[in-house]
Amino acid sequence: MGSVLRTLIAGLLVMGVAAPVTSSAQSLADRHRAVDAPPLRVPVDINPDPSILEVNISAYLADVEIGPSLKVKAWTYDGGIPGPFLRAKIGDRLIVHFTNRLPEATTMHWHGVRVPIEMDGVPGISQPPMQTGDTFTYDFVLRDAGLFWYHPHVMSAAQVGFGLYGALQVDNPADGITVDDEVTLVLSDIGFNTVGALEPAESGGPAGMVFGREGEYVLVNGRRTPTLTMRAGTLQRWRIVNTAKSRFFLIDMDGQPFTVIGGDGGLQSTPVTEQTLLVTTGERVDVLVAPRGVPGSTLSVRAMLYNRGYGSVQYRDVEELMRIRFTDAPALPARAMPATSRRIVPTMRAGATEVPVVLTLPPAGKDGKSAFRVNGVPYWESKPFTAALGERQVWILRNDTDWDHPFHLHGYFFMQLDDRDQPVQPLAWKDTLNVPMKSTVRVLIDLNERPGEWMFHCHILDHAEGGLMSTVQVGPPSGKTHEHKPPQ
Ligand code: C2O
Ligand code: CU
Repeated sequence: MGSVLRTLIAGLLVMGVAAPVTSSAQSLADRHRAVDAPPLRVPVDINPDPSILEVNISAYLADVEIGPSLKVKAWTYDGGIPGPFLRAKIGDRLIVHFTNRLPEATTMHWHGVRVPIEMDGVPGISQPPMQTGDTFTYDFVLRDAGLFWYHPHVMSAAQVGFGLYGALQVDNPADGITVDDEVTLVLSDIGFNTVGALEPAESGGPAGMVFGREGEYVLVNGRRTPTLTMRAGTLQRWRIVNTAKSRFFLIDMDGQPFTVIGGDGGLQSTPVTEQTLLVTTGERVDVLVAPRGVPGSTLSVRAMLYNRGYGSVQYRDVEELMRIRFTDAPALPARAMPATSRRIVPTMRAGATEVPVVLTLPPAGKDGKSAFRVNGVPYWESKPFTAALGERQVWILRNDTDWDHPFHLHGYFFMQLDDRDQPVQPLAWKDTLNVPMKSTVRVLIDLNERPGEWMFHCHILDHAEGGLMSTVQVGPPSGKTHEHKPPQ
């Protein structure tokens, strides 16, 4: 365990919270383009039908180079970090023949995708865990445009932290947004020691669980501080996903603006301009940028400090995420951002059932262990929440803890409400939304289709495994009994 972590834990003990620790870039062809950010790997599509993306993916351990002479034996999809970049169009069918060649059980969960319950990848709930050597075919239609991602749902803090994640981008060719270049950025981090062995998922023990362990090396498309080369002023569309298990990214481009046009569930109703961009774990943002600078110079894209609770800013520095290198060509003249808009019909609030969801972290018990709780119980003692098929619910997410919790619901998009119960403007579909420490966030969910038992949890995966997880049974229970199991 690193000395910073030890110091942090000492501070946490003073707070009385936890017990002692015993233990490619994918681009459009265009005239200005010269992007050499690490390309995301595109898998072979084995299906000739242009409306079907059919691929084989295996998970296995592999040596991965994340930077010059920085190698780690990571857990990978098809040998690299991130996993293969799946890119399709709205309405396409995705078929993934997935084989587990890891030393442990796994599954694939399709974060944000409105899949049928059998395709949701939750072991013991929607499918049996896949043991070493098992194959499972995920097969579903991509109904929504947006940037999604896939990751395991077995020991997810460990498995995601070790490198198992990949992006799934669903384009809408009719969105009418014309830019000079498109880049998909998968943000993550990884921790390993001097001989390239992964930091064990349990490092830091119960306190590490409470902090949400962050990997020491920040990665963009699996590389440390890659360079994106472009002509100054080039109009870019960046789709960004945070696949880190705990780390939030507060992105700054030396104060240059980001025009946010969408997020988790595709385009939002109208754009918003931001000076910095907060992407919490599991979330996605879709932004337009036109970075400017002197031809030949370099611009740094940084992750600034963001306080998501004790342990997230102490002894930390601003991190350089990537560099933009401007070519020698004269800067393109400034121009207006293309107008984007989407007609979003908000879900009706009137008549929706109110569901209180209270997140707590009681002090550690005699055994020295702490567990996050949802309405008084950790995951392994929880019973499913319930909803009739077609029921609309307002979830009142009250975070009584001293840490932020990015709330994620499987299978459905929701809409955030303000404290007057009006939809937050601009309208946007979300599947992951930060509930800041000591605050309440309200979301409106239309549980109108695909009956089944759907997970919800904090997407700081250490918190999820530390108890902050439950399920909602939409429609009548299947009759199959199962237990919500404690982490192995
Ligand atoms: Cu991205 Cu249940 O998770
Ligand atoms: Cu959390």
